Amino acid sequence: MDRRKAMKLAAGAVVAGGAGLFTLADNMKPDYTPKKEGEKLDYKSNECDWKYTAVSDKVSAQIAYDEYPNGSCMYATFKSVIAQLSEKVGEPFTSFPVHMMKYGHGGIAGFGSTCGTINGAAALIGLFVSDKKQRDKLVAALFRWYERNEFPIFKPEKPALDADIPKSVSGSVLCHASLTNWAKASGHNIHDKERKERCRRLSADVAAKTTEMLNDFFAHRYISKGTDDKTVGTCMTCHGGEGKLDNTSGKMKCTSCHDESVAHKAFAGPHYKVMD
Ligand code: HEC
Ligand code: HEC
Repeated sequence: MDRRKAMKLAAGAVVAGGAGLFTLADNMKPDYTPKKEGEKLDYKSNECDWKYTAVSDKVSAQIAYDEYPNGSCMYATFKSVIAQLSEKVGEPFTSFPVHMMKYGHGGIAGFGSTCGTINGAAALIGLFVSDKKQRDKLVAALFRWYERNEFPIFKPEKPALDADIPKSVSGSVLCHASLTNWAKASGHNIHDKERKERCRRLSADVAAKTTEMLNDFFAHRYISKGTDDKTVGTCMTCHGGEGKLDNTSGKMKCTSCHDESVAHKAFAGPHYKVMD
């Protein structure tokens, strides 16, 4: 038995020992998909016509903050990099129809789905990275970073709204959940002007992070640090592509929508064990 497996078993025994009712169910659990270690994403060739040139992450944050009122979160995040490349490189960036990114506000036209900041960031990555696997890994790493960290971090020198903006963890890539969780953490209503200021600063955070990632990737020094939320590892062991159920796909934090029912907790393990 290798060291990691032994440690996992030992940790499992401690948990199971204290859990009483669920001890049996816990013993029935399969070997969860192991956590992935950090991975260097080194591109070999990049077939994109749109060539990236390193720009400043600090300037990206400022541009995103400044542009927010002109087209909201997705537009601001996307424009942060394109505006710098327009200055530095010129065409084709100068002619890029950046206005198209305005659709992403409020989780796409107010629908509350994917947060516009990370939608804009994913569009930037999509513009520059041609390899599907590497593009997907970059986008997923950015989404995980967004899902689990506290925002906003950015502190504008000249704030549009000079207020203390509380931080929160979105726990989800959805605008709907991200706003609600911020409202709960801050005590504000989502229609307060502080919420707008929060999203404005969040746009700056995501713009800076995306710029840093693109700079590192194209300098051959990007190391993916993010692993999926731990629920993805555990739940997908049975429900994902390599599990027996294989009835769902995705990398979002599972428990942002699903509560594990008592029945599921007690019976999913034993049931799974006897399934074909
Ligand atoms: C040990 C394997 C296993 C793990 C781990 C597991 N499940 Fe399940 N899950 C099952 C089985 C077995 C069923 C019943 C499927 C059936 O009868 O078709 C099930 C059913 C479900 C269902 C549909 C029925 C219901 O109870 O609502 C959902 C949703 C679900 N699981 C979500 C999750 C989530 C979220 C997690 C992680 C927190 C998770 N599962 C972890 C085995 C597992
Ligand atoms: C944004 C909300 C959301 C997230 C996040 C989410 N789910 Fe679901 N899931 C749903 C909805 C909605 C359904 C369909 C209705 C239902 O079965 O509850 C569903 C259905 C399922 C089912 C039942 C499939 C079937 O064939 O019966 C499983 C299993 C499941 N989800 C597992 C997961 C796992 C594992 C994750 C994490 C990787 C996850 N879900 C993340 C919303 C979500």
